[in-house]
Amino acid sequence: MVEISASVLSVKKEEAIKTFYNLETAKIDYFHIDVMDGKFVEQDTADLMLEYTEYIKSISNLPIDVHLMVEDVYSYVQSYLALDPNMITFHYEAVKKKEDIKELINLIKENDIKVGISIKPETKLEEIKEFFPYLHQVLIMTVEPGYGGQTLIESTIDKIKELKEYIEKENLELDIEVDGGINLQTNQKVIQAGANILVCGSSILKSDNYKETVERLKQI
Ligand code: DX5
Ligand code: ZN
Repeated sequence: MVEISASVLSVKKEEAIKTFYNLETAKIDYFHIDVMDGKFVEQDTADLMLEYTEYIKSISNLPIDVHLMVEDVYSYVQSYLALDPNMITFHYEAVKKKEDIKELINLIKENDIKVGISIKPETKLEEIKEFFPYLHQVLIMTVEPGYGGQTLIESTIDKIKELKEYIEKENLELDIEVDGGINLQTNQKVIQAGANILVCGSSILKSDNYKETVERLKQI
């Protein structure tokens, strides 16, 4: 089954209430929250994303999928734990020591929240394989993290395939989430490569009919 996690990064504040409602009625599966600290990536969305998450929690029961693009992973995990999201994913590149990665994984799981690790387009799968048995998902960035509305980097498709093959070979229970440039031209490629959760921002938000777009993005 393919699921859609709708990125609210590019939702304008004036239109937020209406847009969140429309996304929910369009039957998205998750709200994707892009937390950026102005250090790990250029933009700083920390306050806005906190505000959006609190608001979404007050109006919707849909699961929240938090994507942390921050250097100080520990403190952002702490603040998001309180909001009881469904899933927290942090970047491998932001955490220097392997022991710290393991500690973060445990901290998130102890709070009954699913945990994921994300890697940028240049980072090799090899570097994070040892954590797979402890994770719920791997988030493959299909663009450089930082902005919505970019074009998918084709070379990341092979990484999705490699991950899918490894999961099958090792009999692991791991979701493959992909993020960046997923639209009606690229969705089939990532689905066929093995992705089962698609993060979609502009492709939904810029469409005239959210519901129809969500349906078509999921279609195999
Ligand atoms: C990029 C973010 C993405 C982004 C996706 O750093 O992680 O979630 O919002 O937006 P689109 O779908 O427009 O590429
Ligand atoms: Zn994201």
